[in-house]
Amino acid sequence: MIDILSKARITAIGTYVPEKKLTNNDLEKIVDTSDDWIVQRTGMKERRIAAENEFASTLAFKAIENLVKQYEKDVSDVDLILVATTTPDYAFPTVACQIQEKFKIKQTGAMDINAACAGFTYGLHIANGLITSGLHRKVLFVATETLSKVTDYTDRTTCILFGDGAAAVLIEKDEENPSFIVSHMGSNGDGGKHLYRTNLSTTMDGQMLSASEKMVQNGREVYKWATRTLPSNMKELLLQAELQPEDINWFVPHSANLRMIESICEKSGFPFEKTLTSVEFMGNTSTVSIPLALQIGINEGKLRNGDTLLMYGFGGGLTHAGLIIKWSVDDVGR
Ligand code: COA
Repeated sequence: MIDILSKARITAIGTYVPEKKLTNNDLEKIVDTSDDWIVQRTGMKERRIAAENEFASTLAFKAIENLVKQYEKDVSDVDLILVATTTPDYAFPTVACQIQEKFKIKQTGAMDINAACAGFTYGLHIANGLITSGLHRKVLFVATETLSKVTDYTDRTTCILFGDGAAAVLIEKDEENPSFIVSHMGSNGDGGKHLYRTNLSTTMDGQMLSASEKMVQNGREVYKWATRTLPSNMKELLLQAELQPEDINWFVPHSANLRMIESICEKSGFPFEKTLTSVEFMGNTSTVSIPLALQIGINEGKLRNGDTLLMYGFGGGLTHAGLIIKWSVDDVGR
């Protein structure tokens, strides 16, 4: 971790989730499960599912349109479009290039990043770095997922978890009032086999993997890794920021599973009441779960400008990344 004063601020946010809901009762009709089991093990009640003709790009466009509308923003002059997704419409062209075309952004770089469910926190770290270094001044960063399209709805331990959605944030140069306090990224490639989706290769470490093109997960192993890894890494972030857990207004972890979040809170000394989550009604939306939790926090009047947040993403790879930021989006008189 390098100590550099940030020059970037998150100035606006917009989100979108598809209309179709998939409830626990719906899942009872698809696999051998029950509402009780799902609520008890995950805290989830519903998820949103993209329509057949809705893709990562479609959801992303709507999230950006919502950002533009709500914060009265112009995105035609962004100089980088960064997209975090594990479920792009195509391997290439990227969703970022589709956004460039849709919004007729003239002079911009455009790329997708894949850090699985840690994509949002990875992307914020990267965007802050690019603006703070002076290479860029206005980054449109979008997280978007259609996980339902790669979920195996015959596997009851996996299909109950995932949902679809998108979120966009605008990150702009602002030396006076920067958002970013500290951040770091990490990875544990040896756990890659616990959460994967095969593509051109169907072997890992010489072992055959499922070639079904659907997501495969050893939930128990991911659970153990995340609840072991996050508490010590969060402590490290706090140490670097010279903050105590009580200085954090909201802990915003990747909304993978409410029980997992309760365990992480317990181990790291964060009161569960000071957590923002999206898992209950959105399921695990991978890269989108953290910004959806932020949006829900705003809608419920919990998250306010001036609040200090600790966000932590983790997921397939295995990847993890965390940030402490000051929430300070533009005030548009709402
Ligand atoms: N409904 C009912 N029973 C189920 C079930 C379901 N949907 N899924 C699994 N079970 C059963 C299993 O078959 C097993 O039965 P058995 O004891 O008779 O063999 C039992 O429940 C326990 O299974 P297990 O897989 O050990 O459950 P768990 O407590 O670990 O919960 C997860 C499963 C997937 C909810 C949990 O491991 C998890 O959330 N892991 C993290 C996943 C994650 O976050 N992934 C994304 C990271 S980005």
